[in-house]
Amino acid sequence: MHKNRVVFCLLVIFILGGCRGWRSEKPPIHVNPNMDFQASYKAQEQPMDIPENTVPWGFDRSFSDSSSRKDIIKKDSVYYYGKNRAGSWVSKIPLEVNYEFLNRGRERFNIFCSSCHGKDGSGNGPVVQGRWIKPVPYWHERVMAYPDGQLYNIVSEGIRSMPGYKQQLKESDRWAIVAYLRALQKSNTATLSDVPLDKRSQLK
Ligand code: HEC
Repeated sequence: MHKNRVVFCLLVIFILGGCRGWRSEKPPIHVNPNMDFQASYKAQEQPMDIPENTVPWGFDRSFSDSSSRKDIIKKDSVYYYGKNRAGSWVSKIPLEVNYEFLNRGRERFNIFCSSCHGKDGSGNGPVVQGRWIKPVPYWHERVMAYPDGQLYNIVSEGIRSMPGYKQQLKESDRWAIVAYLRALQKSNTATLSDVPLDKRSQLK
């Protein structure tokens, strides 16, 4: 009986103690701040620049995959997204297009695209022979009219029923494929006047 009374009294003290009866204007005491207070992003806000000589959290993979800080921050929207600062597609590949680059594009194209688009870009690859939706040939007027930046975006993000390839292909390879795709368009829309005179006799 005595014990119960002590417990009851303690309970009353605790309950009354918890209720101070007035409101405080001050924030409650934060005993252990951990990392509760720090600069944070607002929704839709541009990410802050990453300070020099720091490793952004959650980017361990991109560190091993990419060679430079520039690659990680991806601020160069033309190179990484095919868009200029105003948000419109760039008309030209932002890299030097030479023989080596085009060859790289051809190699990557044959590996990643020809299964559906065919080695010539006609849209008759083995995969689409069956039931898959057939892509239009690359020399279809719609595809001819895409600016380079938009083609790059199609390779990266896909379009309608076609998947994107940004996980499999690094940026420079995606641009190389765009260059090769342009070459396929040129070679398939070429006319006799595009063939040098001395080679015309070799045409069948
Ligand atoms: C799995 C099959 C497949 C692969 C692989 C593939 N594509 Fe496609 N692609 C398609 C299909 C299907 C379409 C048509 C999409 C639609 O109209 O729904 C298409 C459409 C396109 C178009 C034209 C978009 C338009 O406006 O019609 C381009 C350009 C293109 N692909 C480029 C590429 C490139 C470059 C690659 C290689 C990186 C590639 N594709 C790999 C299936 C594929």
